[in-house]
Amino acid sequence: MKKIVLFASGGGSNAEQIMQYFDEKQGYTVAGVFTNNKTAGVIERAKNYDIPVFIFKREELNEGKVLQSINQIAPDIIVLAGFLLKFPSDIIAAYPHKVINIHPALLPKYGGKGMYGMHVHRAVLENKDKKSGITIHYVNDNYDEGNIIYQHAVAVEECLSAEEVALKVLALEHEHFPRVIEEILNG
Ligand code: GAR
Repeated sequence: MKKIVLFASGGGSNAEQIMQYFDEKQGYTVAGVFTNNKTAGVIERAKNYDIPVFIFKREELNEGKVLQSINQIAPDIIVLAGFLLKFPSDIIAAYPHKVINIHPALLPKYGGKGMYGMHVHRAVLENKDKKSGITIHYVNDNYDEGNIIYQHAVAVEECLSAEEVALKVLALEHEHFPRVIEEILNG
């Protein structure tokens, strides 16, 4: 059984897609959902799938407590799906090539500290870019700089608002992220 651990900070629509995708497949289990936000939408979504939820404080992430909980699960992959805190070096070191993130733009454009969620989509719109997209990449010690696993572009030149860009990008994330996770697990 391949074990997947999810980290999410907010609504968790990507996390839900992943939970649903693997719920319908044999040989995989989402073994835990971790969040730093006790009001995150992802908590209810995980409960609907009977997946254990771990709510933690930033200090617990950075002082080894979250790593201990992960070690008890011993996951095959750790997926950051809309997780907005810096991911700590000790977990990355303990799970080499097993921590991945999704970023809502075509890295290396629009990456780095402060570049998340709507901030990214506003920047894309302000720069009048013709396309945006998604990047799935390994996580290293620098924000959004790990090796790229998968990218997919989408035209955004007709979008009139950052919200419209966000909807297009989110649809791409939902379509591709679960499948790419499965491919990594079998790679
Ligand atoms: C997603 O668009 C994801 O790419 C982005 O946050 C959103 C979370 O949505 N992540 C980042 O910006 C990370 N730098 P969700 O909670 O509905 O899945």
